[in-house]
Amino acid sequence: MKGIILHGGHGTRLRPLTHTGPKQLLPIANKPMSQYCIESICDAGITDIAIIIGGLGANKVRDYYGNGENFGVNITYIEQDEPRGIAHAIRLCKEFVNNEKFLVFLGDNIIQKPITNFVENFNKSDYDATVLLCEVDNPSRFGIADVENEKIIKITEKPKKPTSNLAVTGIYLLTPLIFEVIDNLKPSWRNELEITDALDNLLKQNDNIGYETITDYWKDTGTPDDILNANRQVLEHICSKAENILVDESSQDQNFFLDLPCIVGKNCKIDESAQIGPNASIGDNTIISSDVVIENSIIMSDCKIDGGLNIKDSIISANCHLHGNNKDKTKKIFLLGEGTKITL
Ligand code: TTP
Repeated sequence: MKGIILHGGHGTRLRPLTHTGPKQLLPIANKPMSQYCIESICDAGITDIAIIIGGLGANKVRDYYGNGENFGVNITYIEQDEPRGIAHAIRLCKEFVNNEKFLVFLGDNIIQKPITNFVENFNKSDYDATVLLCEVDNPSRFGIADVENEKIIKITEKPKKPTSNLAVTGIYLLTPLIFEVIDNLKPSWRNELEITDALDNLLKQNDNIGYETITDYWKDTGTPDDILNANRQVLEHICSKAENILVDESSQDQNFFLDLPCIVGKNCKIDESAQIGPNASIGDNTIISSDVVIENSIIMSDCKIDGGLNIKDSIISANCHLHGNNKDKTKKIFLLGEGTKITL
């Protein structure tokens, strides 16, 4: 079986974070979110992976993952000229997939539990496709599946009046039959070839789509709030497994106050009067000076924060410099693109 990771797209909802790179390389607990996908696919025994890249950040993706050998997989890159939709991106993989069954993983989806069983069940089945469904609170934001008598009867993209709360997650198990369906697909109102339309058409054609339900954590990280939510969840998960590795060795000889869960990268300098956490990720080479408080936030690499700033619910990209005035201790919220400089 082969794997496909979608690493293109516009990422408009995450601007300005996505002005200088693709959203799938944004760090969750100090690791690019698409790396979790690669690990998950690799753990399920799939090592031939195509990554769909496009636009501004394509080279950053190639630089980070290379040929995949550092990640235990074989990577082929496939370029998408414009973000013309998820189904369009999948169609570009016809040659790569050849005649095998395959797995598609949207590079901005985070799932906690292994996907091995889903993959094995699909391999054994004669379904044309299997989708993974997850209950959500806000179904009009997702592609939604209506299920009756344990069968999917309809898949609708972002329904205005949802009749189910089962979202179709960004992990799809497919057969090459989907390529024919995509060839006959018309672009949607937003001028994209939609995967939900392709699946719904496949359903109408053969009535042979299976589903599995994700009952643990799953997140589609389209917005800053989603990213902070995923960061919290992953930190909690890794903190519950290993308490000692969360502060990199090179940043350990300092006495700052750490409120778990949180993670601190390599070569950070953190003043002992600073408070890190809960739910904070601090990237490599970041300098945090006296009396700074950082909670429920992602601070990426090479940042400098001083002046007693009290920061919460923020995402601060690499190379940002923030200077507080040592007086104003109210909690501040920032969403900053790479290289931002702020003096309060
Ligand atoms: P979306 O989140 O639906 O779209 P987007 O990434 O363009 O973001 P926004 O709506 O904020 O502008 O995309 C889901 C996933 O699929 C994501 O990982 C990006 C990827 N994708 C592609 O690789 N190619 C595409 O043509 C599209 C539309 C998405």
